[in-house]
This record gives sequence, C-alpha cells and structure tokens, in this order.
Amino acid sequence: MAALSFVRLNLLRSKFFWHFVCFALFIHDQQGFAFAQEQGEIETFDLLMPNVLPKKAETYFCTPIRIDSDTDYYIVGFVPNATMETAHHMLLYGCEEPGSDEEVWNCGEMAVKDPSLRSAEPCKKGSQVIYAWAHDAPSLQLPPGVGFHVGGRSKIQYITLQVHYASVDRFVGGVRDDSGVFLKYTTIRQPKSAGVLLMGTGGRVPANSVEYMETACKINEDKVIYPFAFRTHTHALGRVVSGYKVSRVNRRDEWKLIGKQDPQLPQMFYPVANNLTLSKGDTVAARCTMVSNRNWVTRIGLTSDDEMCNFYIMYWTEGGDVLNTKHCFSMGPPIYNWSRNRLNNIPEDASTL
Ligand SMILES: *[C@@H]1O[C@H](CO)[C@@H](O)[C@H](O)[C@H]1NC(C)=O
Ligand SMILES: *[C@@H]1O[C@H](CO)[C@@H](O)[C@H](O)[C@H]1NC(C)=O
Ligand SMILES: *[C@@H]1O[C@H](CO)[C@@H](O)[C@H](O)[C@H]1NC(C)=O
Repeated sequence: MAALSFVRLNLLRSKFFWHFVCFALFIHDQQGFAFAQEQGEIETFDLLMPNVLPKKAETYFCTPIRIDSDTDYYIVGFVPNATMETAHHMLLYGCEEPGSDEEVWNCGEMAVKDPSLRSAEPCKKGSQVIYAWAHDAPSLQLPPGVGFHVGGRSKIQYITLQVHYASVDRFVGGVRDDSGVFLKYTTIRQPKSAGVLLMGTGGRVPANSVEYMETACKINEDKVIYPFAFRTHTHALGRVVSGYKVSRVNRRDEWKLIGKQDPQLPQMFYPVANNLTLSKGDTVAARCTMVSNRNWVTRIGLTSDDEMCNFYIMYWTEGGDVLNTKHCFSMGPPIYNWSRNRLNNIPEDASTL
C-alpha cells in the first residue's frame, strides 16, 4: 500500500486516479501496511508519462508526482521504461516545489514547445537531478544500503520526470507515450544517504577557439562523501568534461580523477573512475573543454545556440545527512579559471580522454 502515497498532481485527469480511490478504500488497513514495512519490501512506483502525444521531435515534456510528506521514503533504484528510438534522454528532478501544477508541461533547455501546453522549468524550487537515462542505459541500482531520502522531512517533496523526445515517428496514428521510470523504493530507513552535487560555470566561448570552463569549491562541511557515479552535460561544443578531488599537500595540489567523459556520448550517470572520499578541506574541481568553430561568441544559456558546462557527482554519506551544498558554480571564462583561483599542478590530461 505504500506505493499509493505517491500522488499524481491533477488527479482527475490522471490514470492514477483509480489508484488513489483504492488508497482511500484501504487506508484503514493499517495492520497490512505495517507488516509490509517490517518485511523491508522493495516497492515499485510507476513514474511514467500519462499517455502523452508529443507532436514534434525535440519536444521536452515534464510530469510531476507529489510525495507524501508524512512518510519518509528511500529510493534505492531506477528502472527505465523507454527506448532510444523515441526518447533521447530522461531526467528525474527532485524538487521542493514543482515547476508547474499542470499534469504535463513543456520544459527544459533547447525545447521545441507544444503550444497547447504551458512552459516551465522542471522545478520551481530546490531542483536536483537524481537520475539520468539515455541511449538504452540499463537500470541504476544504488550501492547496497544507499537510498535517496524523499517525502517525509526531506527536501524532495516532488519528483519531476522530464522526457526529451528524439523522434515522434512512433506516435503517428495516435499511439501515445508512457516513457518513464519505475522507482524502486522502501519505507525502511537506509543506513546511507544518496546526494548529488552539481558543478557548473557561467561564461562564454570566443569564436573559433578552444576554451576551458572551470569551477572548483572547497568542502566546508564536516561530512565524508563517497562519490559513486558522475554525469557530464554540455551542448554541442563540449569535447571533454573532467572532475577531480584536489588535496593540498605542502602547497602542492594533488589531483585525483573522479570521472571524465565525452559529453557527446549518452549523458547518463557512469561509475566513478576512482573510489575516493571527499571530506572537509578537500576541493572538488571540474573542467569542460569547449571547441568552437563558430564565427560568433557562444554564451552559457538554455537554447541550443548556447552552451552549458556541468559535472554531476552522485555520492553517498553514512547516516542521514547529505551535503547542504548542492551546487558549485563559477563565473567561468574570462573571469574565472583554476590557476587564477590558485590551484596548481593541474593535470595535463584534464582535456583529453
Ligand atoms: C512501459 O512499460 C509498459 C509495461 O509496463 C509497456 O507496455 C510500454 O510499452 C513501456 N513503454 C515504453 C515507452 O517503453
Ligand atoms: C568502486 O567500488 C565499487 C563497489 O565496491 C566497485 O564495484 C567498483 O569496481 C570500484 N571502482 C573502482 C574504479 O575501483
Ligand atoms: C587564467 O586566467 C589568467 C588571468 O586572466 C590568464 O592569464 C591565464 O592564462 C588563464 N589560464 C588558463 C589556463 O586559461
């Protein structure tokens, strides 16, 4: 019964309406509910597009769920329900507030908009990516004992599913789409908590040039962070995105690779290059190597003519506390770079795969 505490917004228009009615009927069955919890069962919630009909390729749709704020849930895995013929990518955003209270809206960077729907960001407040799928990627099972804490007293009160439709060939003749993710979750508190740190830059890439977009942040919280997956994100100009742990030993920086990827490959979470820990006083650093053959300046922004430079670190911590810090952003070029920020001994292979 726990599954039914995840509630679709806009219930009357949703196929989950009937689930909700079922929940209302069985809500008094407390004994059965408690029993399921004791068994530590992993339950599944279908977070799928509500049979939408995207009309054009490159459409981005978002659909949200609200999570019961009286119950703590722990997501321990994500099982995709999509094919690369239809979906270019899917992202799950944890939100404090969803971008819209519509059932479906236009969302995301570079979006082709469906004029019959509103446009909004995936989240209005407290946005964090908790899962990314692309290119027929397999399921993501978090490491044993690790869960994303959602609902209850957590900062994630909503989850928004975003699907970027690559092709709409399948939908001619009125076939509808239910791409999405099956969330694997439990109400049993997990001993380790999953979190995501998003690194990125502002700035610009000059015409016909190679530019490094860099960021770095010192960890100021008294927590030990175990990165286990990373994701890179740029638009067309990104060639290599790399992320590092940097520790200072006798004024000399030691760099250890967390992950490095060609952002033109499927932008999903990949396992880290090294199992390392980050703790107070360590620095995390990321670089996007951008190559522009354009005759104009490219700026950071949301359209396909703009760029983005992002490196995501998915990590776990012991106990219930993830980092309060969710972002590490710099102004990017020409204002910010690593060496101006007094990082030294920069790895020579930070821009090569
Ligand atoms: C999603 O899963 C259902 C079965 O649960 C299946 O019928 C449907 O084709 C799947 N959709 C996609 C887009 O893979
Ligand atoms: C990191 O640890 C995980 C889990 O123990 C293991 O599966 C993986 O191979 C390790 N990765 C590296 C690069 O050592
Ligand atoms: C970093 O910025 C400084 C000052 O703008 C510049 O002199 C230096 O060449 C830059 N370093 C790199 C590696 O881009």
